[in-house]
Amino acid sequence: MTLTLVSCFLVALFGVLYCEAELERFEHGAKPDGSLSFLVIGDWGRRGDYNQSEVALQMGIIGEKLDIDFIISTGDNFYDKGLTGVDDPAFHESFSDVYTAPSLQKQWYIVLGNHDYRGNVEAQLSPILTEKDSRWLCLRNFILNAGPEMAEFIFVDTTPMVDKYFTDPEDQVYDWRGISPRKNYLKNVLEEVESALRESTAKWKIVVGHHTIKSASTHGNTYELNVHLLPILEMGLVGQKLDIDYVISTGDNFYEDGLTGVHDPAFNESFSSIYTSPSLQKQWYHVLGNHDYRGDVKAQLSHILRQKDKRWLCLRSFILESEFVEFFFVDTTPFVDKYFTDPGKHTYDWRGVYPREVYLSNLLKDVDAALKKSTATWKIVVGHHTIKSAGHHGVTEELVKQLVPILEDNSVDMYINGHDHCLEHIIDSTSQIHYFTSGGGSKAWNSDVHWWDPEELKLWYDGQGFMSMQMTQKKAHIRFYDVFGKVLHAWNLTKEMHSAI
Ligand SMILES: *[C@@H]1O[C@H](CO)[C@@H](O)[C@H](O)[C@H]1NC(C)=O
Ligand SMILES: *[C@@H]1O[C@H](CO)[C@@H](O)[C@H](O)[C@H]1NC(C)=O
Ligand SMILES: *[C@@H]1O[C@H](CO)[C@@H](O)[C@H](O)[C@H]1NC(C)=O
Repeated sequence: MTLTLVSCFLVALFGVLYCEAELERFEHGAKPDGSLSFLVIGDWGRRGDYNQSEVALQMGIIGEKLDIDFIISTGDNFYDKGLTGVDDPAFHESFSDVYTAPSLQKQWYIVLGNHDYRGNVEAQLSPILTEKDSRWLCLRNFILNAGPEMAEFIFVDTTPMVDKYFTDPEDQVYDWRGISPRKNYLKNVLEEVESALRESTAKWKIVVGHHTIKSASTHGNTYELNVHLLPILEMGLVGQKLDIDYVISTGDNFYEDGLTGVHDPAFNESFSSIYTSPSLQKQWYHVLGNHDYRGDVKAQLSHILRQKDKRWLCLRSFILESEFVEFFFVDTTPFVDKYFTDPGKHTYDWRGVYPREVYLSNLLKDVDAALKKSTATWKIVVGHHTIKSAGHHGVTEELVKQLVPILEDNSVDMYINGHDHCLEHIIDSTSQIHYFTSGGGSKAWNSDVHWWDPEELKLWYDGQGFMSMQMTQKKAHIRFYDVFGKVLHAWNLTKEMHSAI
């Protein structure tokens, strides 16, 4: 009897990860009773104006009550343009002379905001300021171990992550010394954050940055952080807990327009040099998404990519046998009429797909034959496009008409897809096939939901996240997680139950 556990980890969109470099670390002990308390303040330095002094007064009172251990500043320390230099009087006028309450005479741990980058950044990072006021500690990226094992704070320099400060600075001049080449700087920061999170053994892990990730206010969500930082919070924290056997990618491997060729640097930049975490050094099984079809498809299918990175395996349609489970990867993009009849300004690479009718009918025949031949306990079909979805793209009619009858005929257990940028679990009430959408790898929050029968819709989540599956012969345990690794939805499927139907 086999008791092998298959765990697969689904990522629908590409994020970022890991390396060896080390962030500077600081230690801050807890109180004798093991507790810690601190205040957090951001966007403050205005020489006392705009109620800065009033806020400081209240911080002093609360700081006293809570007997705080330290203070965190989330940046924009000096308006409107940071400091002009280490001797800028704003340092006293906006910091030392404002936060004068006895309870605020503690260590301050400070990151930079975008306004700080409009002045002399090196001044704020300089030890000369710490000599002027011993509370001051400002670095670009660093770690604070508090407790010391209790809480780990990872301070992240988020300003250089935001594109518009570089591409559209308007009349602002930013001090990017120490940042360029920007790409390398960001890559290193993200790698360091990922490795710090992965290695941390602290009970609480807290990331501090200046820019919003989720915000209902003026600036809203920061797109770049959602794309680059959130995947690290997801994968770094949860990925290591499952012993992953392989990774499945449900397509749209390279945005916006696939690869230009086998030597497109995007292969390295968006795959090899990104998914470097040890837990992701497994085989990756890829299908193609519609965005991949907008580039050179043959490049993604080429064995040359496999020579460049042996984890890479991308085929149009293929079968993966894994003891008691068989995965059928199906190339769904050529099924969708509108890419042919109404491609808009996009050009699709249909080499190898024409004549389309023949391609599709052969593919359907092959899938049907393979499913019929399969003796696996679990049969799982994977494709990029949705079949049942309450999300933005909704139901793909072409697949409902052509693929679903084959799935139903052959008692397929699950269909797993991406395409819609959300997480969903829909059970078809007649066939009992489970439809899983795992498309929340990065850009989400479409607020675009269509009505779906609540009897069938077991999960609808519009934010980022991912799905995991652990399987044995008899049981499949499926979980959906949000970006913090919190389980949003869990579902067990058992084989006895299935064969009884
Ligand atoms: C200062 O705070 C008071 C009380 O909230 C508010 O009425 C006033 O508008 C604030 N002043 C400024 C400049 O924001
Ligand atoms: C991949 O990119 C990294 C930096 O992003 C670079 O160090 C490495 O040399 C590149 N590798 C290849 C094969 O181009
Ligand atoms: C699934 O089964 C596991 C035991 O294998 C159990 O701990 C868990 O609570 C079950 N989850 C659900 C949602 O039924």
